[in-house]
Amino acid sequence: MTRKSCIVLPDDYKGYDVDYFCVPHHYEDSLDSILIPSGLIQDRIEQLARDIAVELGKEPFAVLCVLKGGYKFLADLLEKIKQYYRFSSENSVPFSVYFIRLQNYEDNHSTGKVKVMRVDGLSFLQNKNVLVVEDIVDTGKTMQVLLEILEKKQPKSIKVASLLVKRTSSSSGFQPDYVGFEIPDRFIVGYALDYNEYFRDLNHVCVISEHGKQKYSNHSN
Ligand code: IMP
Repeated sequence: MTRKSCIVLPDDYKGYDVDYFCVPHHYEDSLDSILIPSGLIQDRIEQLARDIAVELGKEPFAVLCVLKGGYKFLADLLEKIKQYYRFSSENSVPFSVYFIRLQNYEDNHSTGKVKVMRVDGLSFLQNKNVLVVEDIVDTGKTMQVLLEILEKKQPKSIKVASLLVKRTSSSSGFQPDYVGFEIPDRFIVGYALDYNEYFRDLNHVCVISEHGKQKYSNHSN
């Protein structure tokens, strides 16, 4: 499948002032802007869920969520796929859910090495249609490493859904099958995307400020 078009936020896109939306008080001083408000995220996921349900069609599938950043996207996407199934007798199939934990970021930069922290047993993949659910594709390295691991398990098919894709000159060229938004090359937090484990408890996708980076740096103490 060639990737469907997605919402593209241009390089000069400023997003919204933090004052226009509710954010947890403890993060108010740490954000430059709200790039994607949570309501827009939800509306976009509704359409992705429909695209995925229609395309996966009549065969059961296994969903593999990439932790930690993928957990909110996974929960909302599956909820919307289930909603779609309630009204579609044609495209309603069971799915199973698995988790894998990968890590390659410290502070706001890639460490260059993708660590597989925990695997939920991958033998189930053989001969299955697999939907990988990821929060963001930046250089694409994480996904390339993961796909190499998964392909060894001989699945029937693999599709990748990523809520976000970053436009970056360091891209490996990897493109997911389903993408919510293509965003400029900025470090973002919220909607389960973290900076040193902070900001997962923020519903909007936001641009972290310099003050926020310092305040929550691993090296600030
Ligand atoms: P890649 O391997 O460079 O594509 O990086 C993908 C992983 O890096 C994602 O799963 C995230 O965990 C993390 N990441 C990349 N960009 C960001 C960001 O802007 N904010 C938070 N995490 C990010």
